[in-house]
Amino acid sequence: MRAFQVLEHGPPSSLRCSDVADLIPGDGQIRVGIRAAGINFPDTLVIAGKYQVLPKRPFSPGKDFAGVVLDVGEGVTRYARGDRVLCHVEYGGFAEQALAAEQQAFGLPDGMSFVAAAAMGLVYQTAYLALVDRAQLKPGEHVLVGGAAGGIGLAAVQLAKAMGATTVAAVRSADEAALVKENGADHVVDLSLPSQREQLRAQVLAATENRGVDVVIDPLGGDFLGAALRTMAWCGRLVVVGFAAGDIPTVKVNYLLVKNISIAGLQWSDYRDRAPDRIAAVQHEIFRLWRLGAVKPYIMKEFSFAELPRALELIEKGEIRGKAVVVMDG
Ligand SMILES: NC(=O)c1ccc[n+]([C@@H]2O[C@H](COP(=O)([O-])OP(=O)(O)OC[C@H]3O[C@@H](n4cnc5c(N)ncnc54)[C@H](OP(=O)(O)O)[C@@H]3O)[C@@H](O)[C@H]2O)c1
Repeated sequence: MRAFQVLEHGPPSSLRCSDVADLIPGDGQIRVGIRAAGINFPDTLVIAGKYQVLPKRPFSPGKDFAGVVLDVGEGVTRYARGDRVLCHVEYGGFAEQALAAEQQAFGLPDGMSFVAAAAMGLVYQTAYLALVDRAQLKPGEHVLVGGAAGGIGLAAVQLAKAMGATTVAAVRSADEAALVKENGADHVVDLSLPSQREQLRAQVLAATENRGVDVVIDPLGGDFLGAALRTMAWCGRLVVVGFAAGDIPTVKVNYLLVKNISIAGLQWSDYRDRAPDRIAAVQHEIFRLWRLGAVKPYIMKEFSFAELPRALELIEKGEIRGKAVVVMDG
């Protein structure tokens, strides 16, 4: 089978596509013939050697994929050859086959394409856990989503809307503003204005009748976190999800005290490894919302397997809105 592998850490162009031996499922594992794989911002960090978990080289990166079960290892009870599944793994998705523990696999709903499933892995899971498990979002609350046209951002806007919240989407261009409105944003705020600290607060207060937001989902870090804190209502909850803006911010905690604000972190892969039953329940709920039409992945572009390094470069440069997916040949 063909696999893109990290031999030495570097930019996406350093990935090597090689013929490697077919995989053999171990106890409790399934072997999946991959039809489509999600491309995620953290993949670029893994390839560059800047991610918190780095497997021994050579390895194939790629954290979520959809495909067909080829065979199963000893003790597998939930899946059989031919089943259509979405899998969440630490690495291995940028190849023609991958192994997954059976509890990391989820049967696809009828009618869901492999491409749609691959776009509904990590980003929807992360957005859901940020909104529900970490922020305790309630219907009727206001949610500010940073980087709202990105993978996590757009999933968070759709999910928050589906949960009965009012959504305030933060973007920095007119085409992103149009996209987030099409995906359920009730209000759009512009992060490209000078003096983000003042401007974000003014825009959010105008959108929330001076109340502020109850929840902030922050995949950006950088200047956004400090500016977003100033937009929050009494007892607001901010969830740190990522640092797509590049810098890891520091926080003056007096602000938390004065407004009874909480900041929580979210590391999704910890939930995957420590709380697989919760991940399964969340996946079930995400698929239920998809069946209802309440969430729908926005896939900006499908790439062929050979185009994977180019797709990763576009993610790295912030040129992908919503999701990019690799579709396997044939
Ligand atoms: N905590 C977890 O478990 C977890 C899981 C998955 C991912 N993450 C992290 O979450 C972050 C976002 O991931 P993603 O998949 O959503 O990435 P993505 O699809 O690349 O989206 C990132 C978004 O951030 C925006 N952005 C980048 N720099 C910005 C800036 N300086 N100011 C305002 N907006 C900016 C981009 O908008 P433009 O188009 O305007 O550049 C883009 O819409 C990454 O840091 C990723 O590593 C965390």
